[in-house]
Amino acid sequence: MVTYLDAETAPLRNTGQIRLYNAEAFEGMRKACQVTARCLDELVSFVKPGVTTLEIDRFAFEFGMDNGALPATLNYRGYTRSVCTSINHVVCHGIPDDKPLREGDIVNIDVTYIVDGWHGDSSRMYPVGQIKRAAERLLEVTHECLMRGIAAVKPGARTGAIGAAIQAYAEAERCSVVRDFCGHGVGRLFHDAPNILHYGHANEGVEMRPGMIFTIEPMINLGKPHVKVLSDGWTAVTRDRSLTAQYEHAVGVTETGCEVFTLSPAGLFAPGITIGK
Ligand code: MF3
Ligand code: CO
Ligand code: CO
Repeated sequence: MVTYLDAETAPLRNTGQIRLYNAEAFEGMRKACQVTARCLDELVSFVKPGVTTLEIDRFAFEFGMDNGALPATLNYRGYTRSVCTSINHVVCHGIPDDKPLREGDIVNIDVTYIVDGWHGDSSRMYPVGQIKRAAERLLEVTHECLMRGIAAVKPGARTGAIGAAIQAYAEAERCSVVRDFCGHGVGRLFHDAPNILHYGHANEGVEMRPGMIFTIEPMINLGKPHVKVLSDGWTAVTRDRSLTAQYEHAVGVTETGCEVFTLSPAGLFAPGITIGK
């Protein structure tokens, strides 16, 4: 049995119950998520061949410090960086290092800032210089998957409707959906109930209610859906080493649909990608 509860009075840990947030909370999320979105906007011109992912990490740390925001991943379950940087066949949780990005790479940068206790979680894809047509198509398909997932968010529907919409589109485009990672409730906590699957059926999952806040963050592969985690305990890669991509937004369920908290103020969420816009 799924229970929903007033976020104001709920204990600050993941008990599996679903928090319903009020208008003040939505305002808090707006603020945190907009710091994240502005950082991701700045990174559009920062990312180019020769830049290392550690330099990206340092940029995001400094940007946070300058804007009253703490990177949520710093010392999160033993993770020691401010962002995740996932290149080419890395599905998610890539750890920034001193290796320079190369022309033709695609890199996901995932930033979560905590502002006044609210978690702003979002990620985007960044092409490094000129990329191949297959990579460009993967970015288009993945962005459209996210947008179709968001379009399925409305009170009364189940969270399974999000996954169903994403899976249907990804597979029609001969891509596959990663099963091992999912979206999540977010707000006062970084990772909270419910899990948001990016595959499945519309009649599965929990009923969406106004006040729920969660992420949608599909990881889409050009090859098979299977992943493995490297010996560093974090870096997840496609088993067949096929190219993979991810976009992530944080959304709040409203009376009529949803509010996307992590929209780009500069319109740079997926520059050059017209599908889904
Ligand atoms: N930001 C990621 C997400 O979308 C989580 C990163 S946790 C880390 O949920 F520890 F890997 F950084
Ligand atoms: Co997330
Ligand atoms: Co994220």
